[in-house]
Amino acid sequence: MKTICTINMKGGVGKTTVSVGLAYELSKSFGKNVLLIDTDPQANATLLILQEEEFGKLDLARKTLADIFEKKRRGLMGEKDQLSLLDIIIENPWKITTGKMDLVPSSIRLFESKLLLTQMTFSEDFIKNKLATIATNHYDFCIIDSPPDFDKLVVSCLTASDYYIVPIRPDYMSQQGLVVLNNKLEDIKSHVNCESIGYIISLIPPTRSLYHKNVITELKNVYGSEAFLAEIKERQNYSIWPSTHKPLSNKEDRSPFVEIAAKIIERC
Ligand SMILES: Nc1ncnc2c1ncn2[C@@H]1O[C@H](COP(=O)(O)OP(=O)(O)OP(=O)(O)O)[C@@H](O)[C@H]1O
Ligand SMILES: [Mg+2]
Repeated sequence: MKTICTINMKGGVGKTTVSVGLAYELSKSFGKNVLLIDTDPQANATLLILQEEEFGKLDLARKTLADIFEKKRRGLMGEKDQLSLLDIIIENPWKITTGKMDLVPSSIRLFESKLLLTQMTFSEDFIKNKLATIATNHYDFCIIDSPPDFDKLVVSCLTASDYYIVPIRPDYMSQQGLVVLNNKLEDIKSHVNCESIGYIISLIPPTRSLYHKNVITELKNVYGSEAFLAEIKERQNYSIWPSTHKPLSNKEDRSPFVEIAAKIIERC
């Protein structure tokens, strides 16, 4: 199993859209068995995939990533009972038949549980150790959708991953944020064994101004064209997508994610 996380401290750059689109196409178009882990307390990937009612039920049943953290916290205070990823995995919610895309759901409660945990002793191996309880041949890929941060939880996502993907918005603020992100990634690489598998330029405006064209060219020069995975245009269908709770059906909307999935399979 190869584990890949999407990362960017900047919010709203397309991490969740890419995570779900990639996980879905690896499974639907390439017949892979995929585990998608939502580690963001905003639970955007979970909410995109599940119907609200379904999400409400499992949140009430305490079967989310937040509850793994909560049990860990109570474990530190002496409680023996622990949850494993296997206890909370939702099997193939989109009923894909070529491969499968299972989901580890998040919960808004993760905001609190992660804070409490990171204040206490929190191992950067936490997610890696949880993943180790799953048989390595059970999944071909594990995709981790991370929150817009670079806290202990995100470092834990990187520690669990073989590779990371950086989605980038072609604007000035995002470019500035990228300098900080790359410095932080360089800093942790001395003890975290996770490498870049490429970058994606996302949310490209329908009419590219000269400014946008220049930013895109500059990004390709800085990162190198061989690391480039895909361009994703800004489209209404993508912004509506989370409210549908269904896979993208339009071939044109799906095409960048098919392209990314093909390149990921080739590079892994
Ligand atoms: N290519 C696109 N065209 C139009 N809307 C998009 C596109 N990509 C993402 N969006 C929308 O923009 C918003 C931010 O995207 P997304 O949630 O994927 O970003 P993110 O980096 O995961 O955000 P966060 O940092 O908050 O987790 C969402 O409402 C999403 O539906
Ligand atoms: Mg997100």
